[in-house]
Amino acid sequence: MGKKTVNVAKKMKKETVRPLLTKGRIQKRIREMGRQIRRDFPDEPILLIGVLKGAVPFLADLARQIPGEVTFDFIAVSSYGKDTKSSGQVKLNKDLDSSIEGKTVLVVEDILDTGLTLQYLLRILQQRKPKHLRIAVLLDKVERRIANVHADYVGFVIPNEFVVGFGLDYAERYRNLPQVGILQLPAPE
Ligand code: IMP
Ligand code: MG
Repeated sequence: MGKKTVNVAKKMKKETVRPLLTKGRIQKRIREMGRQIRRDFPDEPILLIGVLKGAVPFLADLARQIPGEVTFDFIAVSSYGKDTKSSGQVKLNKDLDSSIEGKTVLVVEDILDTGLTLQYLLRILQQRKPKHLRIAVLLDKVERRIANVHADYVGFVIPNEFVVGFGLDYAERYRNLPQVGILQLPAPE
């Protein structure tokens, strides 16, 4: 009994990731999303705008599932508030390389949480007069929404838990996981 208890206690001291979405489920859903996007815009070149860095794996896979003409560009933003209570103040760290005027634009994000980041991005992108402006997110934490933003294409609605993998990070780590999991932090000493 003593030995087992020690092992369990040791485990709780480690940061772990509890599986939420498998690699297979994610890939299947991305294939469906790609087809849907092309059905909605059958004859148009589509410009994907990836929000760095979290959207990179999703954008790379989604782009390969949209038939026809697709191009990419990237934008980087950061929110001022460091803690989980987002201040809603967003800063543009890297702008797009090219104009989006008259283009069919799809903003690609890893996760829609409070919605404050996307609300800010949509405001600045709309001013640049794209022909269409749509949003695709891999994950949607509906419960956390503050801003009145909704995504046109949603991979999975997930519960209000901190998730990592497939682009999502905890202190820049875990972005390379091919699946999404719930991060379990070790219990404080
Ligand atoms: P929002 O502005 O609150 O919608 O936050 C969006 C950003 O917060 C995302 O692009 C992520 O970078 C980050 N974020 C929100 N929830 C999570 C999570 O569960 N894991 C990792 N990053 C998250
Ligand atoms: Mg992000």
